[in-house]
Amino acid sequence: MKITTLTPFQFRLATSVLYSILHEKKSPDEAFSIYFRKVNVCNREQALVTRVVGDIMRRLNYFLKLLDTTVDKTASAAGIDRLVHIWHVINNLHQTEGARTEPLNVAEIKLLNHELKKNKALVDGCPEWLETHGEYELGERWPAERRALAQAPKRFIRVNTLKTTREELIRTLLRSNVTSREVENVPSALEILTDASLFKMNAFSSGLFEQQDAGSQMIAPFLDVHPGMRIVDACAGSGGKTLHLAALSKGKGVIIAMDVAEWKLKNLKLRAKRAGAFNIETRLIDTSKVIKRLAGSADRLLLDVPCSGLGVLKRNPDIKWADTASRLSSLYAQQAEILENYSKILKVGGKLVYSTCSIMPVENELQIRNFLNRHPDEFKLEEACTVYPSETGFDGFYMARLARIS
Ligand SMILES: C[S@@+](CC[C@H](N)C(=O)[O-])C[C@H]1O[C@@H](n2cnc3c(N)ncnc32)[C@H](O)[C@@H]1O
Repeated sequence: MKITTLTPFQFRLATSVLYSILHEKKSPDEAFSIYFRKVNVCNREQALVTRVVGDIMRRLNYFLKLLDTTVDKTASAAGIDRLVHIWHVINNLHQTEGARTEPLNVAEIKLLNHELKKNKALVDGCPEWLETHGEYELGERWPAERRALAQAPKRFIRVNTLKTTREELIRTLLRSNVTSREVENVPSALEILTDASLFKMNAFSSGLFEQQDAGSQMIAPFLDVHPGMRIVDACAGSGGKTLHLAALSKGKGVIIAMDVAEWKLKNLKLRAKRAGAFNIETRLIDTSKVIKRLAGSADRLLLDVPCSGLGVLKRNPDIKWADTASRLSSLYAQQAEILENYSKILKVGGKLVYSTCSIMPVENELQIRNFLNRHPDEFKLEEACTVYPSETGFDGFYMARLARIS
């Protein structure tokens, strides 16, 4: 998209959303939906404001360093106005006139920016803990991934093949002036090229598509499902991948979607209804018995485990500024526990996919290696794949498919 100087209205909107995220601790999604519902914003304005807020949130530490030249209070309302002014300066745009705060001293910001640009990790919006972690985990690969994760995400949708085809959906979208294009190697995906409010479209409410990153759309097909199978999606959340599994199984057989969060399963049911996916059953995991009862019953099992989210920083940059570092070791333990206990759900001869939205080997290859070391005669690795943002332009994911051999 072409970026331009914000109008005073767009400026106010961007600073309000930022205030809501930084001060009121709302998630970016929540903050956007509050403000975009409250005021009448056209699609282009919505896209521009999302871009500005996203850019600032992805590289918050860098923007705050630039802010230090002019004020010392970082996240005050005036400080937030200045962050948005800085966004204009570093994008070589005129600052918004008529904003509540005075425009900044451009020469001063540019001089400091020149100095700061020597620190590549800072320019990519990488906090120190993440730089250390990324270098340790990925070595020489890390700088390219760090850079890719600092970019604005592309918009992808997944075609619901229970209701339409990719070609048909391209035409349907075009009739509403939304341009899209196919994504190489991801047959279910379309990239959206127009600033459209997708959720307001009839095509969305009638279940023709779901918003889902193209990398994430590689996971359900990796499970090698066929119509008629008994599939368990054990960490289904609100069902992004469950719905994809339902489409791949052509609505035949059964998909048991489980999670520990009841509200997510309620959401999943609504989405399944919209998608016309009638072979999904939901089950809340409220005791360990729910898992034990399913022992040896599934042809296919998806374990899309809770993870750091370090592969999806483009879309969820707040992960960088939250207490993620201190939660990592308990996440690793949780992943290992889920893999250990839930893998028993699989039949002999069945297959499971372990997946994360992280590109860090400690949550991925290492978990699989440790698991296989504990179960050398029971499971074997068929295939594993990491989707790297630097190579694909997608979010980052890992998936490993294991077969149960005894
Ligand atoms: C990565 S998210 C799943 C996303 C989902 N598969 C999708 O495609 O939208 C991980 C999910 O695991 C759930 N979870 C956390 N602990 C769990 C547990 N012990 N058993 C099952 N699910 C769990 C979380 O509530 C969360 O919804």
